[in-house]
Amino acid sequence: MSATSELVLAVRASKRYGDCVALRDARLEVKGGTVHAVVGENGAGKSTLLKVVYGLVRADAGELTLGGDRVDLARHGVVAAQAKGVGMVHQHGMLVPTLSLAENAALGHERLRHGLLDLAAAERELEAAASALEQPLDGGALAGALTVGEQQRAEIVMAVARARRVLILDEPTALLAPREVDRLLAMLRMIADAGCAVVLVTHKLDEVAAVADAVTVLRAGATVAELPRGTPTQDVARAMVGGEPPPPGAAPPPPAAGAPVVLAVRRPGVELEVKAGEIVGIAGIEGNGQRELVHGLAGLAPGATRDPTVAHVAEDRQLHGLVLDGTLADNVMLGRDAEVRRGWRIDRERVRALTERSLAALDVRPPAPALPARALSGGNQQKLVVARELGRPGVRAVVAAQPTRGVDIAAQAVIHDRLRAAAEAGVAVLVVSADLDELFALCHRVAVMHRGAIAGELAGDELRAPDARARLGAWMVGARMEDA
Ligand SMILES: Nc1ncnc2c1ncn2[C@@H]1O[C@H](COP(=O)(O)OP(=O)(O)O)[C@@H](O)[C@H]1O
Ligand SMILES: [Mg+2]
Repeated sequence: MSATSELVLAVRASKRYGDCVALRDARLEVKGGTVHAVVGENGAGKSTLLKVVYGLVRADAGELTLGGDRVDLARHGVVAAQAKGVGMVHQHGMLVPTLSLAENAALGHERLRHGLLDLAAAERELEAAASALEQPLDGGALAGALTVGEQQRAEIVMAVARARRVLILDEPTALLAPREVDRLLAMLRMIADAGCAVVLVTHKLDEVAAVADAVTVLRAGATVAELPRGTPTQDVARAMVGGEPPPPGAAPPPPAAGAPVVLAVRRPGVELEVKAGEIVGIAGIEGNGQRELVHGLAGLAPGATRDPTVAHVAEDRQLHGLVLDGTLADNVMLGRDAEVRRGWRIDRERVRALTERSLAALDVRPPAPALPARALSGGNQQKLVVARELGRPGVRAVVAAQPTRGVDIAAQAVIHDRLRAAAEAGVAVLVVSADLDELFALCHRVAVMHRGAIAGELAGDELRAPDARARLGAWMVGARMEDA
């Protein structure tokens, strides 16, 4: 065995966040001198697993070996990881925009001479590392003046200078133009050929096919496949979404014949209608136009006015859904103050009654109106948002984005029941979710978005067929209709 084909990284890890199991004994083994892709749907645990390796997240249990040495995970941290030759480039750039590249590099190294940053040495080192990778850069350039691609290449150069053994990149191509992606992938290949292992976290399977020597697939916090180079993309996709048939869902009763269309989008590539009483799902890998669709429908697009008959369960409840320092009562009232006014005054009795009704409707625990929202568990926070949004008077449609992401199973069941009940009462429901099981459990119809357009759609018996998951999964990664 040559030196570079030995395992340089082996990890097994379990990690929970409250009710949410992020990793269940997930495993990853990487050989030196290879580009190793880690793929999986959103929330599969990719970032968490690699952050365990880099010492940013402490695992609850597991084992880590770096360069053949056992590392005690209970004491592991970023400094220790870097000392073992591990580097990580994050999805969102970490450069200080008002400093030059050399200054940024020196900061990372904390290189001091006579108590001052030794800029000249940092600049020399950075430019030498850059030219070794055929990525010429100007150490004196202001980071903020560079394109995203240039900044990222600079960050990789800096990381490579330190990462002798393992370089981890978490979704590095998310913000890059296609030409920059090609350039990045070529650079990764060169880094691996020089002997450093490259771990590429991505959900873009064309990139995997282009560079990866091996692929590890994570699903729901566990490693479900380790695949060699040359594995057909369709097989990787199948492993990502799971090959099992959809669970026997309690499909909601179909909408009444002749039910009116309540929600509609008609633009090139996206023709979508949701009837009264219908639940339509939008599947797809994040970043394929789902967010724009939701914002358009929920009246959140710039310049749009919000339609009070469209309820919106926001994807990020902490950003758009809740005022965490407000009480549960304050949060139930958000945007609903008209219901509790008597003239120009807020009627405290109405506030109390509406809050109690809302908390009871979704079994928010504890049902204490004066408690700050921050004190609730994630699942109960989300129930509170759903209670408020679906309880609005006159709601005819609901747009729910990732309505149960990160919540426990009990809260998920309550939220699903509430969405089904809304549909049965004649509300049009659109659910955007990265979780196919959620869509199988709820929807009459599921459409897949890919690159801003609807790539395919399954309804009725096709949606309940054993191959439904594989067909949706194929569209999610860009197969055309006729392939799936
Ligand atoms: N800091 C955190 N607090 C609570 N939950 C988290 C945290 N980080 C990750 N999670 C949860 O762990 C799961 C795995 O997340 P992550 O590793 O980011 O997945 P991926 O990178 O594959 O999209 C998700 O359900 C996510 O919501
Ligand atoms: Mg991630």
